[in-house]
Amino acid sequence: MKKVGVLGCGLMGSGIAEVCAKAGYATVVREVDEGFLKKGMDRLARSLSKAVEKGKLSAEDRAAIGGRLSGTTSLEELKDCDVILEAIVENLDLKKETFGTLDRVCKPETIFCSNTSSLTIIEMSMATKRPDRFAGLHFFNPVPVMRLVEVVKTIATDPAVYQEMVAFGTKLGKIAVRANDSTGFIVNRLLVPYLLDAIRALEQGVGSIEDIDNSMKLGCGHPMGPLTLLDFVGLDTTYFISQIMFDEFKEQRFAAPPLLKRMVLAGWNGRKAGRGFYDYSDPQKPVPQKF
Ligand SMILES: NC(=O)c1ccc[n+]([C@@H]2O[C@H](COP(=O)([O-])OP(=O)(O)OC[C@H]3O[C@@H](n4cnc5c(N)ncnc54)[C@H](O)[C@@H]3O)[C@@H](O)[C@H]2O)c1
Repeated sequence: MKKVGVLGCGLMGSGIAEVCAKAGYATVVREVDEGFLKKGMDRLARSLSKAVEKGKLSAEDRAAIGGRLSGTTSLEELKDCDVILEAIVENLDLKKETFGTLDRVCKPETIFCSNTSSLTIIEMSMATKRPDRFAGLHFFNPVPVMRLVEVVKTIATDPAVYQEMVAFGTKLGKIAVRANDSTGFIVNRLLVPYLLDAIRALEQGVGSIEDIDNSMKLGCGHPMGPLTLLDFVGLDTTYFISQIMFDEFKEQRFAAPPLLKRMVLAGWNGRKAGRGFYDYSDPQKPVPQKF
């Protein structure tokens, strides 16, 4: 494998493109329009600059990585990619439509992977004629920092393709864990009910935003509290995930709390929106919101 195509240059897509280019792959990222593409590529450039500042990356390596990266708004430009990593919004119809088009554009050998947090991979793969060359590659935010990748096998994934994706994840510098195509895979099956419970605790007045976050940081050794983590992940993304998981399992623990829904309706989607459980007017000093 030499060339990687990344769909979406949002929070995850920009990070995925960065690790692919760092690992030596020619990487082309596709966004819906020039505005989103510029925003994503700027985020990627900032992340590389930070790595140089911290002495984790040399200026030469940074230049070489930049040379391997390109952006586009055209799906056609992904036609000669060996693997496609999809990280567009968590919407099944949009993902199916995009993969359906790419199936006609890409060569038959190209492997398709989705970074979905909660959708069923087999359902997406059926929009193509290559369910055997389709898997899940689920990264974590921020992608350049987090070591884990869940490699997801559907009932139709060819075992050789699956092994290739495990090896690819390892080549990207990640620790690959194997998971089946069960909604939420391993991490979100455990994490999402915990995050939703933190919102329920806030709703029920168990503690303030700061006290809930500090409890899990200082009492359980978590690097950040659940409400801070929700702001990082994106409240809209978490809301979509909870709806999909609730729909699959019909269990109360996956149901979105009313406060989450209202914050998403208000556009308070977390750090990326400048406002979530915290106000990020000064990104260095987030201030807990008063509801
Ligand atoms: N946010 C997280 O912590 C996290 C973690 C793991 C997985 N995921 C998954 O990654 C995916 C992306 O999440 P995100 O947080 O990066 O969302 P995001 O909103 O930051 O980015 C999504 C991007 O996709 C673009 N897009 C929409 N339709 C597109 C298309 N047809 N082609 C190309 N680009 C398109 C949008 O313009 C946007 O920039 C979702 O499936 C999500 O479930 C998210």
